[in-house]
Amino acid sequence: NRESIREKSIVIIGFMGVGKTTVGELVAKKLYRDFIDIDRVIENSFNIPIVDVFKLIGEKSFRQKEKEIIKEYCAQKLKVISLGGGAYLQEDIRKVTLENCIVIFLDITWESWKERLNIIIDSRPVLHGKTMEEIEELFYKRQGIYKSHHSKLETDNLNTIDIADFIVESLK
Ligand code: S3P
Repeated sequence: NRESIREKSIVIIGFMGVGKTTVGELVAKKLYRDFIDIDRVIENSFNIPIVDVFKLIGEKSFRQKEKEIIKEYCAQKLKVISLGGGAYLQEDIRKVTLENCIVIFLDITWESWKERLNIIIDSRPVLHGKTMEEIEELFYKRQGIYKSHHSKLETDNLNTIDIADFIVESLK
């Protein structure tokens, strides 16, 4: 029913650097909800940035940790939760978020995204050591996992404030 939908947590998905954290924070403010960024939760638990978490425990353990934390927060109501761009690789995460939350996919075209690469690369370990062609391939491969969502927003020509406004309006 309407009431339980209103209480559902909102989950934001999409490729690295699309603006999930900034948008999530803005949406949470507008809705007077708590904001949770899963990568920040992981960073805080180790007290080091994600790049170093990858070095310390490896991607496999990172994915395990990511799954546990997402499950914990998705069980809660009235949150706004931004996932890491690779979270949707895991079927378990897709399932738990789609069943319990409202999942919003922030989409962007490769042409717009590649302009951001320089700003985001240092803090994104999965991009390290890859050629532009390999990153483009990863980008298109990832589009497939984001197909599971409740609603999608094309963000190419929008700033983060507009994106947050759109999301809040779409929930009314
Ligand atoms: C990852 C995306 C990152 C972070 C980690 C792995 C990925 O999150 O979880 O570096 O595999 O796409 P952002 O999408 O916030 O960059």
